Amino acid sequence: MCGIVAYIGKKEAYPIIIKGLQRLEYRGYDSAGIALLDNGELNVYKKQGKVSMLSNYAETQNTKGNSGIGHTRWATHGLPNDVNSHPHTSTNGDISVIHNGIIENYAPIKAELISRGYTFQSETDTEVLVHLIDDALKQEKVNLSEAVRLALQNVVGAYAIVVISKDYPNQLVAARKSSPLVVGIGSEGDFYLASDATPIIEYTKQVVYLNDEEIAIVDLNEGLKIINIANQEKTAYVQELEMHLEALEKGGYEHFMLKEIHEQPRSIRDCFRGRLNVEEGWVALGGIKDYEQKLLNAQRLIMIACGTSWHACLVGEYLIEDLARINVEVEYASEFRYRNPIINENDIVIALSQSGETADTMAALTLAKSKGATILGICNVVGSSISRITDAGSYTHAGPEIGVASTKAFTAQVTVLTLLALRLAYKKGTITRKKFQSIIQELDAIPEKVQRILEKDKMIEEIAAVYKDSKNALYLGRGSSFPVALEGALKLKEISYIHAEGYPAAEMKHGPIALIDEEIPVFVIATKGTSYEKVVSNIQEVKARKGKIIAIVTEGDTQVKEIADHVIEIPDTDENLVPLLATIPLQLLSYHISVMRGCNVDQPRNLAKSVTVE
Ligand code: M6R
Repeated sequence: MCGIVAYIGKKEAYPIIIKGLQRLEYRGYDSAGIALLDNGELNVYKKQGKVSMLSNYAETQNTKGNSGIGHTRWATHGLPNDVNSHPHTSTNGDISVIHNGIIENYAPIKAELISRGYTFQSETDTEVLVHLIDDALKQEKVNLSEAVRLALQNVVGAYAIVVISKDYPNQLVAARKSSPLVVGIGSEGDFYLASDATPIIEYTKQVVYLNDEEIAIVDLNEGLKIINIANQEKTAYVQELEMHLEALEKGGYEHFMLKEIHEQPRSIRDCFRGRLNVEEGWVALGGIKDYEQKLLNAQRLIMIACGTSWHACLVGEYLIEDLARINVEVEYASEFRYRNPIINENDIVIALSQSGETADTMAALTLAKSKGATILGICNVVGSSISRITDAGSYTHAGPEIGVASTKAFTAQVTVLTLLALRLAYKKGTITRKKFQSIIQELDAIPEKVQRILEKDKMIEEIAAVYKDSKNALYLGRGSSFPVALEGALKLKEISYIHAEGYPAAEMKHGPIALIDEEIPVFVIATKGTSYEKVVSNIQEVKARKGKIIAIVTEGDTQVKEIADHVIEIPDTDENLVPLLATIPLQLLSYHISVMRGCNVDQPRNLAKSVTVE
């Protein structure tokens, strides 16, 4: 995820763009860049790091000009450095492009362009766009907007782009597909373009939200024109912005955590985009393909992580053992490194980390590497330390997670592990073709099912209101729902400061049952599947001691409904995929309880997003 902003009009573009980039910095802060058109010169400045690094540098240069484009980057392809920063510029220096999204087929396009003499400066997927546009201008002898349209016909993936050209000083061309883009219509015949309305709102409230596959041409003489990729003219629906600046910074949500919870249909899809094909019946994880044979031959896999990422590892253990029949050991990174673990060159150690910077996980990986093990990483932050020290890995592509409580990063990690388990199972032949096909089909449907759960938010908030003053809470689950119970308990304790414990449902009778009284809420994942009847018995045991049951059940359930105090239905899915759905209502419950208790949801006390000390 990146932030893009652009301006064309009579004002100086630089201050508008820099301020806009600062507002969009939550979308990514690996690097920032700007291109300004001043008297026929296109001046491009790019800097690794935050927007302030860019402004410190740019302000020593020429920042004049009445049109320009700016970008704040969350790296996907290529390290976060100056060269990979946007804008990307054509070889002759005439055209610059900023892009938010992923061009999935950039590799064959790049190869083709190289074979035709184009040279590339960066490792990004985006650079193909500027060369494609340049190529269309030269080969097809068309104008800028038509060149953009023709270029976009070649690409597969997600994009929001803005293009600036020396030869079209009165024009900016923008387009979107799957990544957001807003056009602001200024009162002086000027125009603003941005990923969201945050950079625009202080200048105008008149905006047009572009739809997928639409191209906006903003021209100082001709105004705004919208066409689609098929070259049909579209109507620009002008809307009045009603939101406050503060709220827009969180995309209209009260907290980053809530926004990130609601982003999960998209983040899960982004995670499996290009890695799953239901029609053709395959799953692939390109980042670890060189180590696939080693994974297939492995006697055991060791997975290490901390906190929420450790819970994702536990889900992975259930999935990989069940589907691919490979032994998995899950370790707390902090324990692993200090207990003289037995590891050698035959072992594969997989680290999970949202930030890719967690000190305990880094240290455990370093130890494993020193003993000759193969080390793999599953990280969210591109170019992070863990992604750099590992032999190979897969990114989760969840986008920046700003709320300290991990939500969308967890479901993205579980998605990658599901893909890994399926890939290994497929290659080993440990599941039937029919079962493989049925699970990938279900996985493809998960984003839509998550969306259906999110629509129950109001009802979940009402349940939260009943239990907001609890002193303790228990979370129970069996099989791969046990780690979901652990994760539910962690979410509640870290943001609401209510003491909460997660347990395998059957373990309750070996101790925690002593805690049950009429005060304690017990959250139980009781979806249909192998252990359903056993979980129902565990619920009865709680009810017999007057505990309150809040059960997550499969749609249409009748048995648990009769005994539970509250039920939250989730859509039916393959048993292996239940963690991806059952987690969502638990995130929302914790969120609402935290808000009702007046806690700082996004920055809970004593915590930090990235734990870089041991
Ligand atoms: O960045 P990491 O995934 O390595 O972070 C590990 C934990 O610090 C993290 O998962 C933490 O438990 C969560 N923020 C809790 O929601």
